[in-house]
Amino acid sequence: YLRISKIFVMKTDTKYTITSALPYANGPLHIGHIAGAYLPADIFVRYLRMRGADVVYICGSDEHGAAITIQAKKEGITPKDIINKYHQLNKQTFEQFQISFDIYHRTSSEIHHQTSAEFFKTLYDKGVFIEQVSEQYYDEQYHQFLADRYITGACPKCSNENAYGDQCENCGSTLSPTELINPKSTLSGEKPILKTTKHWYLPLDKDTEWLKEWVNEGTLEGKQHHNPKEWKKNVLGQCNGWLNDGLRPRAITRDLDWGVPVPLKDAEGKVLYVWLDAPIGYISATKQWALDNGKNWKDYWQNPNAKLYHFIGKDNIVFHTVIFPAILKYHGDYVLPENVPANEFMNLEGDKMSTSRNWSVKLDEYLQKHPTKIDELRYVLAVNLPETKDSEFTWKNYQTLINNELVANFGNFVNRVLVLIHKYYEGEVPAIDHSQKINNGLTKGAQATIDEIFDAITNKVQQYVALIEQFKFRDALAQLMDISAYGNSFLQFNEPWKLIKTEAEKVKTIMGVALNITATLAALCEPYLPITSKKIKQILNDDALCFDFENVKSTITKLTKAGQKINQPSILFEKIEDEFVAQELVALKANIANDENESKASNSKPEIVFDDFAKLDFRVGTITAAEKIAKADKLLKLEVDMGFETRTVVSGIAQHFKPEDVIGQQVIVVANLAPRKLRGIQSKGMILMAEDANGKLVFQAPATKVENGSAVN
Ligand code: MF3
Ligand code: ZN
Repeated sequence: YLRISKIFVMKTDTKYTITSALPYANGPLHIGHIAGAYLPADIFVRYLRMRGADVVYICGSDEHGAAITIQAKKEGITPKDIINKYHQLNKQTFEQFQISFDIYHRTSSEIHHQTSAEFFKTLYDKGVFIEQVSEQYYDEQYHQFLADRYITGACPKCSNENAYGDQCENCGSTLSPTELINPKSTLSGEKPILKTTKHWYLPLDKDTEWLKEWVNEGTLEGKQHHNPKEWKKNVLGQCNGWLNDGLRPRAITRDLDWGVPVPLKDAEGKVLYVWLDAPIGYISATKQWALDNGKNWKDYWQNPNAKLYHFIGKDNIVFHTVIFPAILKYHGDYVLPENVPANEFMNLEGDKMSTSRNWSVKLDEYLQKHPTKIDELRYVLAVNLPETKDSEFTWKNYQTLINNELVANFGNFVNRVLVLIHKYYEGEVPAIDHSQKINNGLTKGAQATIDEIFDAITNKVQQYVALIEQFKFRDALAQLMDISAYGNSFLQFNEPWKLIKTEAEKVKTIMGVALNITATLAALCEPYLPITSKKIKQILNDDALCFDFENVKSTITKLTKAGQKINQPSILFEKIEDEFVAQELVALKANIANDENESKASNSKPEIVFDDFAKLDFRVGTITAAEKIAKADKLLKLEVDMGFETRTVVSGIAQHFKPEDVIGQQVIVVANLAPRKLRGIQSKGMILMAEDANGKLVFQAPATKVENGSAVN
């Protein structure tokens, strides 16, 4: 029932350009990022390489935009420091996790600034842009226009309270700041004012029609461009949502001092919108890679045989299926994406993953704690890829999948085969006798020819391939695990450990077939479990073990050679104990607790020097009279005996105390506070109160009674 897709026979002149979303260099990566845009791309790329395809896999840091400058402000360091810090961290994290980019570049690089400025200039010279002066939100305290993440408000579409000026991350809508309801500056927290400024706009309203056709029919300028049936439903759904709404012109410049300067004379203080320059980062990274590797970058971008695939998370769909394609088409020299296989989100232990709420598993921390469990995490994430809907990661499921699948199924099969080959043949590969009949590996007592058994495995391999080519990486992985499950039952039903005494010749064939299944697994698991694949290949003494996908069956039969020696096996995966799960859950919850403490601390006031403190005159007093103030439900009018005089103090405690209950209470008063008139009453001083966790007020008094008028220091 599975379609064997068109690139099953690989065309040699095709160039594959694969990109993963450039992550902002403003924080560490978590497993949700990986499951969204990186692991699936890496699986696809590794598969293509295995097929011998000409492929370049591009990624890098997105180092512009408000995401960077806002984080810099938060950490109290410069934007340059921020991008250097997180570029290094993320580059290294990806490497350690075996995400096999051909280049991990940066949008702060010279070549990128040049490439994106040139790109803008080309479109400008073609007269593509609309130049327009308009009123934009402006923060008067910070003297800054507020675009993108500098402004938040309620989303007009889904009423999420924290939509950004350019995008609502809840419903995925693209927005402009003026659409936000109750806009607020993220700098001052104040309501912004409007002020005029000039910007350049991409006239997307003119692109709605061709985009509709391109997305839904796969046609471009009357020619078939791609097969629209190969696009994922979630992606088509989002695209059509915007296209049916009708697109509007979109500003592609900003009033900011961080980014690629607008390459025009009258554009002082203006930079390119980060969502214009970042995707061009794919191109500039390819240029750098080509320079470093003696290639021609145009082969991968400006060549009718180039096939471009963008792997992204769902919050990036509009930029990769509408805005960037429109930009590429306006330029004219570039290919448009063949497909944009975007993923949904991965949740964590029943809740949305979020960096700001610190509810995530950070990849660098995981790798530091568990440096030998890389393929294990790749496996668990691959099983749970949010391919068609949001998915869920739990540590319990991590344990179950590793123990039941990697340990008990895959690892167990491979280990049994390798151990038996050493036990029976001192590590020498036995010859398969193709005239033998052995158990078919499915039913007790059912015999099959060797040919039939290899046919069955061939079929599974072909399904695996077809599924990968349809971006169904979960299902393809299930096929792979199915091959090792088959291997296990093949051993179980053939019982070589019994036959070895009576039918030694037959056992050679059984073990030979089992070893070829092992070698098949070693090859096929490479996209998912690269470290494991390498390990098994080393044990098989065949580091370069190569699988010819155009001749699957004959390849399987020839994967190992009789008479060759194999090395001693080692355990591939270790069982995950309950203790491991418990510790990870504790660590996860500790993150949130730490965060709460930190935010309490960060709510406190700035440091003062001793002289500031010395200015305050705290005195002990006793409340001698108290009464309500008409029409002020929060205020009480108190008389306080200060020893040297009696003061009137108006205090906001009426909702916490009845007047009669506070008489006689000793208190601490800020005695030298300048008098203030409240509700027509002159108030002289302030009473110190503590606020408990429920917001209830508690009097602060000396632990034992002291004389009124005593100083508190
Ligand atoms: N930095 C963006 C994000 O994390 C993704 C940029 S993708 C690119 O959401 F196409 F712009 F590069
Ligand atoms: Zn929304």
